[in-house]
Amino acid sequence: MGSETWRAVDEYVQGTLALHDEALNAAVAASAEAGLPSIQVSPPQGKMLQLLARSVGARSMLEFGTLGGYSTIWLARALPEGGRLITLEADAGYADVARANLERAGVSQAVDLRVGPALESLPRLHEEGAGPFDLVFIDADKVHTPEYFAWSLDHCRPGALIVADNVVRDGLLVDLDCNDPAIVAQRRFHEMLAGEPRVEATTIQTAGVKGYDGFTLALVVG
Ligand code: SAH
Ligand code: DHB
Ligand code: MG
Repeated sequence: MGSETWRAVDEYVQGTLALHDEALNAAVAASAEAGLPSIQVSPPQGKMLQLLARSVGARSMLEFGTLGGYSTIWLARALPEGGRLITLEADAGYADVARANLERAGVSQAVDLRVGPALESLPRLHEEGAGPFDLVFIDADKVHTPEYFAWSLDHCRPGALIVADNVVRDGLLVDLDCNDPAIVAQRRFHEMLAGEPRVEATTIQTAGVKGYDGFTLALVVG
């Protein structure tokens, strides 16, 4: 059993439970056409994000790392009337592709896409009084996951969920010989979570079309 089985199972779940409509298909196709890397969440993961957002009744969401807007569409579709999602993307070209994808999916009016490095957008969001957020999806440059988490925690309501993608990375998370800053940051992230009384968290390993990785789920309890 290996990555072919993981792929087949993801395709089975997509075909039964995490169905794509035309807009999601078009978002994937347009992103590939424009040369964006194929590193969006898998369909089952997109559906999971949507279910998590619905579970907490999210009206206000924040996403780090838009890429072509694939996860953004899944999340935005969980919003009630009048809900908002702010999504942060460093690459202006990717943001252009995302804008078209979001428009096609009919979620543009609910999505506020900010172009620039997230660490530069955050002080601006703070000044604007953004939040409190009900759900945050951290999926941008992995070296800054701890900083994005710390800021998010200060801008979330109790009961909010913070989800961070790509924390396991083929198990490199626990390979102490690996000094890749993106991996070291995931260990620092786990240490922060362990010592932070305002959250309860866990990490789930995943195998699928995107390989072997995992995500962290943190519930804001105070
Ligand atoms: N959430 C998307 C995938 C995001 S991939 C999905 O699942 O559909 C990671 C994205 O983070 C890339 O588009 C990359 O350009 C962006 N990124 C990298 N560094 C960033 C930074 N400093 N600030 C904001 N976005 C960044
Ligand atoms: C990669 C995967 C991701 O899910 C992501 O958000 C960024 C990069 C990757 O495989 O390189
Ligand atoms: Mg990711």
